[in-house]
This record gives sequence, C-alpha cells and structure tokens, in this order.
Amino acid sequence: MFEDKLNLYREEINKTLRELLKRLNNKDCSIICDAMEYSLLEGGKLLRPVLTLCVCDMFKKDFKMALPFACAVEFIHVGSLVHDDLPCMDDDEKRRGKASCHIKFNEAAAVLAGDSLFCSSFEVLTYAKEYGLKDEEILKAVSFLAEMFGTKGILAGQDMDMFLNIEDFKKDAKITVKKIAKYKTASLIKAACRLGAIAAKASLEEIEILDRFADYFGVCFQIKDDILDFKQAEKKEEEKLDFIHIFGLEKANDLAVEYTEKALECLKKLNGSEFLVELTKKALYRKN
Ligand code: IPE
Ligand code: IPE
Ligand code: MG
Ligand code: MG
Repeated sequence: MFEDKLNLYREEINKTLRELLKRLNNKDCSIICDAMEYSLLEGGKLLRPVLTLCVCDMFKKDFKMALPFACAVEFIHVGSLVHDDLPCMDDDEKRRGKASCHIKFNEAAAVLAGDSLFCSSFEVLTYAKEYGLKDEEILKAVSFLAEMFGTKGILAGQDMDMFLNIEDFKKDAKITVKKIAKYKTASLIKAACRLGAIAAKASLEEIEILDRFADYFGVCFQIKDDILDFKQAEKKEEEKLDFIHIFGLEKANDLAVEYTEKALECLKKLNGSEFLVELTKKALYRKN
C-alpha cells in the first residue's frame, strides 16, 4: 500500500519532469539543457516532490494538481546539489551513483545548469495555472519557495557550512550544526510540504503543524545524510563540521531517533497522515 503509493507519486513526478524538460528545451543552449536533464533524471529519491504530492493528497485534493509545485521544488534541490558538488564548494566527483555534473560536462556547464534549474523552477511554478491552481496560490508558492531557497533558507546554510571558521563554530558546536541543517536541508523540505498545503488550500493551523514537522524531519534527514556519508567515506576528514564529528556516531543516531519522534508527534494532529508517518519512519532507516 505504502510502496504502491510511493511508486505512483514517483512515476507521475518522473513523467512530469520529462515533459518539463521538453518544454524548457532550447537547441541553442543544448549543453545547459543536456546538463539539466542529466542531473534531474534518474538516481534521485525524489523525497521533496513526493512530500509535496502526499501533503496535497492528505488534504483530500487531487495530488496531480500539485505536480508543477512538486517538480519546481526538485529543480531547486537538484540545482543546489549541482552547485554543492563544484570544486569551489564540496568538490565531490560523484552524485547519485554517477559522475557529478561538472565531471560529466565541465565546471562552466555545471554553474550554468544550476542557474538554469533555479530560474526554471520559478517558471515551472507558474505552469500550475494549467493544472487548475489560482494566481493567488501560485504567488504564495513563489514567495515561500524563494524565501526557503534564499538568504533565509538553503543559501544561509551553505554560507555557514562554507565560511564559518572552526574556532567560532566550536564555541557553540551543537547548536550551530543543528542551525546549519535547519537552513540548508530543512528549509527546502519545509517548502516541499508548504507547497503541497498551498495546492490543497490547507488552513493556517494545518500549515503551522506541517512547518514544525518539516523542521524536525529536515534536521533528522541531514543527520542521517551525515551518518551515511561517514559510513561510506573512504578517507575520514578530521575537521568536518557535521553531526558525527560534533556528537559522535552513537549520539547522532540517538538525535535522529529523537527528531523522528518529535516529527511524528506533530503528525498526530493531522488526519490522513498515514503515508507521511510511514515516509518519516522509513527515512530514519534509509540506506542511501
Ligand atoms: C541530499 O539529498 C542532500 C541533502 C540535503 C541531505 P537527498 O538524499 O534527498 O538526495 P537525492 O535527491 O535522493 O539524490
Ligand atoms: C547538501 O548538503 C545541502 C545542499 C545542497 C543545500 P551536503 O553537502 O551535506 O550534502 P551531500 O552530502 O553533498 O549530499
Ligand atoms: Mg555541502
Ligand atoms: Mg556536499
């Protein structure tokens, strides 16, 4: 039941992503278009767009209406990963089990593909009108997605992740590492949930509950990401400022469990949240 629904959401998202790529294609910038397609399709878990669809579904609205919103969130996510892997950022040569965008293409292409994913994300939000959403809802989505991507969201997290000096970081390491995760990871997860709620015309009260859920779930997701990175790393980095290095593996695991419980507690206040409950529990035990 859970798996069937998850597969259905993923199928619809993949289908829409392909349609969107066709629509955005321009043969005069084929390198950017190829690099966008390479980075967007295959290998991703599609967690964020699935969140958008299942939140819309939870409020008993046709989840297909939320497809442009869901895909727009994935565009931002993938753009942020393409830039995150660049040599001037995390310098990672692999992403989703294949060569990172700048390795497959080159650095300039990866910078431009990221730019294009960000810009196209907002274009895609406006396509929601063709799916029956109103201007007012689209405007709310544009505003919140921009906020969660910008200086109050992902970019604030990336700034702290890249530029905080180690001495300042260590003064308040436990609080700081949580704050970075909230910005760089929970922000977009919150946007994913919010956009589903906007599409479904959820109430303010319901939105507040989902926001709190997303903060806990988002930080937990980053703790798990750090744990998986640590277990898979070939060389151990000494001064890496992530949850494992600040809390230790055991405490980081405990924290992931604690945050999952807090996230689940929020969901108790929402009717029809069974799928989201299951997704939250599964994220704690994920292997990639
Ligand atoms: C990776 O996110 C980056 C983080 C913010 C932790 P995901 O683990 O959701 O990456 P994909 O989309 O499945 O590749
Ligand atoms: C990625 O954070 C978060 C964003 C791209 C905003 P990380 O750098 O910790 O994630 P991975 O491990 O490269 O996926
Ligand atoms: Mg990073
Ligand atoms: Mg990285």
